[in-house]
Amino acid sequence: MIELIGVHKAFGRNRVLQGVDLTIPGGQSMVIIGGSGTGKSVLLKCILGLVRHDTGKILLNGQDVTKADRDPFLARFGMLFQGGALFDSLRVWENVAFRLMHGALKRPKTEAREIAIEKLRRVGLAPEVADLYPAELSGGMQKRVGLARAIAASPEIIFFDEPTTGLDPIMAGVINELIREIVTEMGATAMTITHDMTSVRAIADRVAMLHGGLIRWTGTVAEMDTTPDPYVQQFIHGRAEGPIPSVR
Ligand SMILES: Nc1ncnc2c1ncn2[C@@H]1O[C@H](COP(=O)(O)OP(=O)(O)OP(=O)(O)O)[C@@H](O)[C@H]1O
Ligand SMILES: [Mg+2]
Repeated sequence: MIELIGVHKAFGRNRVLQGVDLTIPGGQSMVIIGGSGTGKSVLLKCILGLVRHDTGKILLNGQDVTKADRDPFLARFGMLFQGGALFDSLRVWENVAFRLMHGALKRPKTEAREIAIEKLRRVGLAPEVADLYPAELSGGMQKRVGLARAIAASPEIIFFDEPTTGLDPIMAGVINELIREIVTEMGATAMTITHDMTSVRAIADRVAMLHGGLIRWTGTVAEMDTTPDPYVQQFIHGRAEGPIPSVR
């Protein structure tokens, strides 16, 4: 479904991606792990075309994303941004239903609002929240609104950048289950970035570790536990000592 071949991206002298090769099969849940600042969010933005990579190829169903027709291309994706990125001046339900009311999908307002309320329910938010503004919500509630927005238009491919960060353990569990459901029931392809090892175990079919600008390791959750790779072992056990420096 998604294929990256030798993807490079630098910002000035900061060489963030240095030849990333990664294949994400359709209908699977891929989780990307890696230290802070290694380029996980940049990688995601490159796939979405929000950041233009320097060299290499990014293919979606065999089609080069840089040559795709933008609107139909983006209509296939759902995205949860790490920082939430909600529209401050829109009510919660208008944020969630944004794609449904604008662009190709175009649903009537009442129907879009109903879908928004249903998606809010799926992320554990009551209908009363629908008419509030993002500034009136807690951080974890904003995160869940971002998630509801990402899944609102039932996309084929969903990207989640840190979906459980800032959530209490119970709510994180609800979100992990939701991501799993989207993949198993709706047959979507998911790519999730997370530091939360509980989340990795709950949602991943496969795990890939980004380090030093490259995908350093990839495998299943079971393989992750048994791999001798010192980078993976340091990361999953949260050890200060190891090949990954603690000053970055
Ligand atoms: N738009 C940009 N312009 C310049 N540098 C950028 C830009 N976006 C990201 N970077 C740099 O790219 C590197 C990787 O950033 P990125 O946000 O991908 O990290 P990350 O792996 O997602 O980290 P975290 O786990 O903390 O979210 C950092 O050094 C960052 O400063
Ligand atoms: Mg990030």
